[in-house]
Amino acid sequence: SSAAPDIVLRPGTSASSADRRREALAGAAFGEVFTDHMVTARWTATDGWHDAALEPFAPLELSPAAVGLHYGQSVFEGFKAYHRTPERAAIFRPSAHARRFADSARRMALPEVPVDLFVGAAEALVRQDKDWIPDGDDRSLYLRPVLFASEAHLALRPARACLFVLLAFPTGNFFDAGDRAVTVAVADEYVRAAPGGTGAAKCGGNYASTYLAQETAARKGADQVVWLDAVERRWVEELGGMNLFFVYGTGDQTTLTTPPLTGTILPGVTRDTLLTLAGGLGLQVTEAPITVSRWREECAAGRITEVFACGTAARITSVGRVLSADGPWTVGDGRPGPVAGRLSAALAAVHRGEAADSYGWCHL
Ligand code: COI
Repeated sequence: SSAAPDIVLRPGTSASSADRRREALAGAAFGEVFTDHMVTARWTATDGWHDAALEPFAPLELSPAAVGLHYGQSVFEGFKAYHRTPERAAIFRPSAHARRFADSARRMALPEVPVDLFVGAAEALVRQDKDWIPDGDDRSLYLRPVLFASEAHLALRPARACLFVLLAFPTGNFFDAGDRAVTVAVADEYVRAAPGGTGAAKCGGNYASTYLAQETAARKGADQVVWLDAVERRWVEELGGMNLFFVYGTGDQTTLTTPPLTGTILPGVTRDTLLTLAGGLGLQVTEAPITVSRWREECAAGRITEVFACGTAARITSVGRVLSADGPWTVGDGRPGPVAGRLSAALAAVHRGEAADSYGWCHL
């Protein structure tokens, strides 16, 4: 059941519709206008993975009793394809995303999608909809795989039938903020993830459960919520859709720090990429926990010079201001900093093929 089926071409798979594509490339909001096609594959406990197909993007037929809808047995991923030439694209770290997808699936008692099927699906969709890959700076084709329980039954047990779907859409900036630094609000009322829970899995429920806090934060003028650990409520974890990095010092004495992966933080692929790239830029790199009060004190003392968030969708986004129950503070001068800028440029150079792909991250 772990063998990857071939991806067949379903009828109706044809050239792109130019009008929708123009609309999307002109700058639709994140995940609003999808490309013309999708890949689907089915899994059953009896037959394993089968029926993999590249087909026109269309609504799914689903029983209203599908387990995924009721009990949230559902996981997803997010990765990107970058324009190189009209005939060539680079999909960034698809195998790393395939492995995390499998880890998330295991945590949610879903079947693992074989890496070959995951990467093959991305290749097939990017090839078919290559005209949808934007070629502007900072723009890319976002790939969104989702795997959910499609079996119609409402007993509390893992589904015996699941559906894998891969969608794509052109994307630019995740934040409509452009290039300003964002404001974050420390969560004081809600918790994202507890030890033993699902914090390290990319399951749908992890995201829905943050909306209420996100709305409260937005009313205070914040763009994102900073999640704290569930036990002591003082260790900084992540932003829900992004990991956090702290920059100490300047020049030759610059250190980059991010909280360690203790099971309640999503193991970000961009996080891992930056930890690797930073060394090459002459930065010291550590994974170390930090409390909210330390964050504030180190900013006041000028030792923390920059903070930024990173993720596939958000790329690298500087944090300029923090709101907390004990009052607000500013990070550095409140504007995007030079270290975030250097890392952004280094990352973009790998994506675009302007820097050597020393780690074999780009799947052409
Ligand atoms: C990504 O960064 O691609 C994510 O999956 C987080 C998100 C849903 C904004």
